[in-house]
Amino acid sequence: TDKAPVSGLPGGFMIIGHRGASAYAPEHTIASYELAHLLGADYLEIDLQMTKDGHLIAMHDKTVDRTTSGTGPAGSFTLEEIKRLDVGSFFNRLHPENARPEFENVRVPTLEEIFKHFGTSANYYIETKSPDEYPGMEDKLIELARKYSVIRNEDGKYPGLILQSFSSKSLKRIHELDPEIPLIQLKKYKEQASLSEKEARMIGRYAAGIGPNFEMISEDYVKKAHEAGLAVHPYTIDSEQEMKKALEFGVDGAFTNYPNRLAVLLGRK
Ligand code: G3P
Ligand code: CA
Repeated sequence: TDKAPVSGLPGGFMIIGHRGASAYAPEHTIASYELAHLLGADYLEIDLQMTKDGHLIAMHDKTVDRTTSGTGPAGSFTLEEIKRLDVGSFFNRLHPENARPEFENVRVPTLEEIFKHFGTSANYYIETKSPDEYPGMEDKLIELARKYSVIRNEDGKYPGLILQSFSSKSLKRIHELDPEIPLIQLKKYKEQASLSEKEARMIGRYAAGIGPNFEMISEDYVKKAHEAGLAVHPYTIDSEQEMKKALEFGVDGAFTNYPNRLAVLLGRK
């Protein structure tokens, strides 16, 4: 086959529960991660922001406006302040078909709380968001991952922890701190994506794979990445049609808000 073995990423196809199972529960809440786990996700995808007092929290946006009852940059809140916000009600308002009373009034989880909750029973796929604005973010992340022993998981089939970022600087810092942790270089292409041998080689110096936006990649892109030994994990694939196409392209995993759909398609459920 064309596919070269991908270094650092053993195991089968990876179902990555995007922000948990965020089609069914408020993103980046313990409820969303629990559901992802239950619905067959191999990984819980977590985006990280950092509070004013240096705590890593699970949140996608730089501001709390979209997903919580508050307003302003996440980094302008202390942890105590951010814990006063409701991060569940927005989901019930926007998705009445999947709304549940228990989603109201849920709190923003810290990364430490997530590690405490799931321990090594889950695998984590964590993104450093806006790392330039949060100096020391990578060091704190590695420190916590070591404290809760999540770098290696129980069954050994998948790596317990994969880290991802759009920032190559952030990934290189992590690679310096712990070269054993598989890293994924995220990419957001505005037009049809191409991957030169040179670029793939550069990425391969610190990363095990690449995470492009699915709508801009082709089978050839996946082939080029594989020839360079890079895994491909596109985001965010929600329809059965896109999932089938991604599998035809031969990708190695995918981010989805509907882990159950991918699990069914893979014949796991
Ligand atoms: O991390 C993969 C994908 O989630 C990147 O986009 O904006 O959803 O974090 P975003
Ligand atoms: Ca993400």
